[in-house]
Amino acid sequence: MKIIEVQGLTKIYKAHKSTLKALENVSFSVNKGEFVAITGPSGSGKSTLMNILGCLDRQSFGMYYLKGEDVSRYKGNALAKLRNRSIGFIFQSCDLVSELTAEENVWLPLYYRGVPAKERKALALEALEQVGLSDRANHLPKTLSGGQRQRVAIARAIASKPDVILADEPTGSLDCQSRDEIIGLLKQTVANGNTVIAITHDLTLANSAQRMLTIRDGRLHQEG
Ligand SMILES: Nc1ncnc2c1ncn2[C@@H]1O[C@H](COP(=O)(O)OP(=O)(O)OP(=O)(O)O)[C@@H](O)[C@H]1O
Ligand SMILES: [Mg+2]
Repeated sequence: MKIIEVQGLTKIYKAHKSTLKALENVSFSVNKGEFVAITGPSGSGKSTLMNILGCLDRQSFGMYYLKGEDVSRYKGNALAKLRNRSIGFIFQSCDLVSELTAEENVWLPLYYRGVPAKERKALALEALEQVGLSDRANHLPKTLSGGQRQRVAIARAIASKPDVILADEPTGSLDCQSRDEIIGLLKQTVANGNTVIAITHDLTLANSAQRMLTIRDGRLHQEG
C-alpha cells in the first residue's frame, strides 16, 4: 500500500526579484513499512522535500498524496490535524522542550491530539520502553546525553503511531556509538511495522535503508 506518492513535485522559492528552484519535477512513492533514505549534497533540496512531505510547507507545482489523499486540499487547522495524525518528526538537533520531562515530551503530540491523560501516559511509557529509556522517564532533557535525547525524540515520533516517520539527519549531531544505537533503533522501528524516511549524509544510515533516493540540484537522480 502506498503511504506517500509525489508526482512532478516542484518547489520555487521567491525572494525579492530572484527565484530559486529548490525541487524540480520530483516523483516517487513510498510503501507502508518501507525504510527509505534520501541523500544528496548540501543545498540539493532534501529539507525542502522533507518539509513538503511533513506538511510543513507546500509545493509550487505537482501533486502530493498522503494515504491517497491530495494534501493540497487541506488548509490551516485541517492541515495541522492531518500532520499531527499522520507524521512523526525526528530532527537533527533534538527539539525537546527543556522544561518538560522525557515522558512529557513524548506525550506532547498526543496531548495536542486530544488523547486523554491516562492513555497518553501509557503510550509514552510504552514508547520510552521501546527505546530503552524507561528508567529516564522523569528526567529533564538537560540531564540526558545527546544519544539519549535523540532516543526520546524517536520515542516521541513512534508514540503517536504515525503513518510515516520523517527524520532529517537523525544521526547528524551524534558520536559513533550513539549513532549506531540510533540506526539500530530506526531499524527496529521499521521492523515493528513503521514507515521511515530519513534524510542523511551518514552512509551507514543510508545503507541501512531498503532504498536510497539521491537528490542533486533539486532533481531525483537515482532510485533503487
Ligand atoms: N525558505 C527558503 N527561502 C529561499 N530559499 C531557500 C529556503 N529554504 C531553502 N532554500 C534554498 O533551497 C535550496 C535547497 O535547500 P535545502 O534546505 O532543501 O537543502 P538541503 O539539501 O536540505 O541542504 P543541507 O544538506 O545543507 O541541509 C538551497 O539553495 C537553499 O538555499
Ligand atoms: Mg537540510
